[in-house]
Amino acid sequence: MNSSSVIAGCMRWGTWDAKYSSQEYATLIQQCIEHGITTFDHADIYGHYTTEAEFGKALALQPGIRGNIQLITKCGINLVTENRPQNTIKSYNTTAKHIVSSVEQSLKNFGTDYIDCLLIHRPDPLLNAAEVASAIDALLQSGKVLKFGVSNFLPHQSAFLQQHIKLSYNQIELSLTHTAPLLDGTLEFAMQHGTGIMVWSPLGQGIFAGDHPRKEALLKCLNLLAEKYQCHPSQIPIAWLNQLPCKPIPVVGSTQIDRIVQAKDALNIPLDREDWYLLLEVATGKEVA
Ligand SMILES: NC(=O)c1ccc[n+]([C@@H]2O[C@H](COP(=O)([O-])OP(=O)(O)OC[C@H]3O[C@@H](n4cnc5c(N)ncnc54)[C@H](OP(=O)(O)O)[C@@H]3O)[C@@H](O)[C@H]2O)c1
Repeated sequence: MNSSSVIAGCMRWGTWDAKYSSQEYATLIQQCIEHGITTFDHADIYGHYTTEAEFGKALALQPGIRGNIQLITKCGINLVTENRPQNTIKSYNTTAKHIVSSVEQSLKNFGTDYIDCLLIHRPDPLLNAAEVASAIDALLQSGKVLKFGVSNFLPHQSAFLQQHIKLSYNQIELSLTHTAPLLDGTLEFAMQHGTGIMVWSPLGQGIFAGDHPRKEALLKCLNLLAEKYQCHPSQIPIAWLNQLPCKPIPVVGSTQIDRIVQAKDALNIPLDREDWYLLLEVATGKEVA
C-alpha cells in the first residue's frame, strides 16, 4: 500500500463525534482526495461497529472513487455494545475465525472487495502467531487484504508475530503527550525490519482540548514556536514527529478539512534540533540526562 503522507483517521467522523451524514462523509472524503490525502484509517469497532458502513455508504455515492483511495481497517477488539449482543465483556480475539469474519464484515461495510491494509488492533496475550499468520496468508492470497500489520505492538510482540508473517506497518500512539515509544525500542525495531510506522493521536487527542499535566507549558511552547516558524501551533507537534528518522505517518483525527490539510502542510516545517529537544523537555518536564 502506498499511503498518503498523512492518513485521515475516521474514528471521530461518525457516531463517536461528528455524526456526519453520508453526504458530509462524501464531501470530506472528496476534499481529502483533492489535497492528496487518499488513505483513510478505520477499525471494525469505530462508532460501535457503525462507522465503516457509514463510510461505505458515502463511497457508494461516488462511483469509481475506490481506486483513488486506500482503506486501512483493524480487528481484534470485541466491544460490549447493543450492536454485538454476544459480547459480554470487553476482550480481544485474534483467532483465525474472528479475523476472517471481521474482514468479511468490513468488506461488506465498505462495499469493496479488498482492504488495502489490515491491522491487528492490540496485542492479545492469547494470540497464536501461527494461527494468525495462516489466516492472514489466506486473506493475502485471495486478494481480500493487500497488506498486513499490527497496532500498539511493542518490539517483543512484533518479533514474535513476524517469525511467522511480514508486518508491513505498526500503528502506535506517539505524540508530545505520549513519548514512551521514543525510548522503548519500537521505532528502531520497526526500521530494522522494514515496518512502516503510523502514529495515532499525533496531537495527543487534541492537546488543545483534553487535559494533560503539561498542557499549559506545552501550549505556551507551541505558541512561541508557531511564531518562530510562522505556522499554526497545532502544526508544531506534527513537524516534531516528522523529524524522527522512521518518518512516521500521522493518522490525523480531526473531522475538519482545514485542520487535516494543516497537518499535511506541517510536514514541510523543518524544526531546528534544539527546538525538537525543547519540545521534548517541555513535554516530559525534564531535560535529557
Ligand atoms: N490504533 C489505535 O489503537 C488507535 C487509537 C485511537 C485512534 N486511532 C486512529 O487515530 C486517529 C486520530 O486519533 P485522535 O482523533 O485521537 O487524534 P488527534 O489528531 O491527536 O486529535 C484529534 C482531535 O483533536 C481535535 N483538535 C483540536 N484542535 C485541533 C487542531 N488545531 N487540529 C487538529 N485537531 C484538533 C479534533 O477536533 P476537530 O475534529 O473538531 O478538529 C479531534 O477531536 C483516529 O481517527 C483513528 O483513526 C487509532
